[in-house]
Amino acid sequence: MTRIAIVGGTGELGLGLAARLANANAEIVIGSRDTSRAKEAALRSSTLTGRHVEGDGNLEAAVWCQVAILAIPELPSDETLLSLKPALDGKLVISPIVPMVIRNGLFSPGLDSGSAAERVASLLQTRVAAAFHTVPAARLLEVKKPLDYDVLVTAETKEVYAEVAALVSSIAGLRPLFAGPLRNSRLLETMTPALLNVGKLNGIKHPSIKVV
Ligand SMILES: NC(=O)c1ccc[n+]([C@@H]2O[C@H](COP(=O)([O-])OP(=O)(O)OC[C@H]3O[C@@H](n4cnc5c(N)ncnc54)[C@H](OP(=O)(O)O)[C@@H]3O)[C@@H](O)[C@H]2O)c1
Repeated sequence: MTRIAIVGGTGELGLGLAARLANANAEIVIGSRDTSRAKEAALRSSTLTGRHVEGDGNLEAAVWCQVAILAIPELPSDETLLSLKPALDGKLVISPIVPMVIRNGLFSPGLDSGSAAERVASLLQTRVAAAFHTVPAARLLEVKKPLDYDVLVTAETKEVYAEVAALVSSIAGLRPLFAGPLRNSRLLETMTPALLNVGKLNGIKHPSIKVV
């Protein structure tokens, strides 16, 4: 079983991914800056799925894992990322991070150029991919309900994409699609504010995507 750490897994996306991946037979540790918060979240996730999920500090989770999902808010500080660098050296790191701001009641991209995923890659210097930007956490948390979404993935090489694709497709109802190299991550990160605006302006709750 793959050992997956969800850094910042106490938030909605982390909890949702923990629940779905635990059901997909991965070993999961939810990470947090506060170990007791991680343990509470792990208990919540275990209760939700009936599968054992652990909780620990972000660093301990990063040391233990083979794959880390950075379910942390937009623009984590360099300090946050660099504190995990030695633990994540040589491992696969997946960024679902969406830099986003609200202007006049609507969502806009939070970066003028580049992407959170490229920044993560330049700081961590390991295998980094970007994925899950358009998967609504609220739907992941409805563990009894099926999903039916596409997950666009950027990764520097096809080999890294294949690793992420295997993880994405281990969750029933998610189809991975290759969206090109990491420099294309900005395109994925800006899809989320676009979708949220469409949802807000057209009364669609938890909008997501499927490519047809
Ligand atoms: N929510 C969604 O539907 C969704 C969908 C797709 C992508 N995303 C993206 O996925 C990421 C996580 O989303 P979320 O909604 O779960 O986020 P969130 O609830 O805002 O934050 C997740 C966790 O990050 C930790 N955190 C907060 N500030 C931090 C900091 N300065 N440094 C390090 N850790 C910090 C907190 O955990 P501790 O306090 O326990 O450390 C928090 O519970 C975001 O980048 C978001 O844009 C979200």
